[in-house]
Amino acid sequence: MSIDGKIVVITGASSGIGRATAKLLAQQGALVVLGARRLEPLQQVAEAISASGGRVAFRQTDVRQRGDLEALVSAAVEEGGQLDVIVNNAGVGPISRFDDLKVEDWDLMIDVNFRGTLYGIAAALPVFARQGFGHVVNVISTAGLKIVPTMGVYAATKNAVRTATEALRQEAGPTLRVTEISPGMTATNFGDSITDAAMKKKIEADLGATAIPADAIARGIVFAIDQPAEVDVGSIVIRPTAQG
Ligand SMILES: NC(=O)c1ccc[n+]([C@@H]2O[C@H](COP(=O)([O-])OP(=O)(O)OC[C@H]3O[C@@H](n4cnc5c(N)ncnc54)[C@H](OP(=O)(O)O)[C@@H]3O)[C@@H](O)[C@H]2O)c1
Repeated sequence: MSIDGKIVVITGASSGIGRATAKLLAQQGALVVLGARRLEPLQQVAEAISASGGRVAFRQTDVRQRGDLEALVSAAVEEGGQLDVIVNNAGVGPISRFDDLKVEDWDLMIDVNFRGTLYGIAAALPVFARQGFGHVVNVISTAGLKIVPTMGVYAATKNAVRTATEALRQEAGPTLRVTEISPGMTATNFGDSITDAAMKKKIEADLGATAIPADAIARGIVFAIDQPAEVDVGSIVIRPTAQG
């Protein structure tokens, strides 16, 4: 196992997939450095990890602010002396039909899902270059693999990340690992950001019927991180068996 002793930054760690990943990595001996906007749930995650003997730090982070990601990465380096992995997981999915013209929701998805991931990459790369090693893990979505109505902008932001991830992988050279992971329907608070009441109800019902636990995605992320330094897990798709 190579998780023990790794220093891992995780965005969107106050809930869902980010929280599950933080807990699993901490259980296996990583020092996890958590970022999200809401301090209270972030603190609760950190307390749960500490209470079970894990090593954890956290910092209020809005991934739309480049400086917040720089500060989160700096906190990890200060706390752990280096940065092994950044998991760019923070994301929102206020999905809707195009003719609803929820343009502010489109902007939010671009800013959080795409720009926020780029800011995470920008914060981590100089540290990785200085160290001569590092690992970028970007959480994408099966919404970008099977495009369906109402998910156009969400899927576009996720596929923008997919495109950037592949170019980064090719640029990265022999010492930097780059992984994309595409979850399918996962039981989290993902529906919370949906501003259309009927859409929110439908997505929450779909998730309730089909979703897999956030742990299933966390195990995929841990698998990629756990590989030897010369093994780069490029792309993982994890969805419910029942997802069409
Ligand atoms: N659940 C699914 O079915 C599913 C499927 C495919 C992909 N995904 C992707 O998985 C990732 C995690 O989502 P989830 O399903 O675990 O949903 P979730 O439970 O709602 O978690 C989303 C996380 O992102 C954080 N976040 C949102 N906006 C942020 C911002 N501006 N700055 C920093 N953090 C922010 C939230 O924390 P705060 O609110 O405290 O900031 C929260 O911790 C997302 O990228 C999502 O697109 C989810």
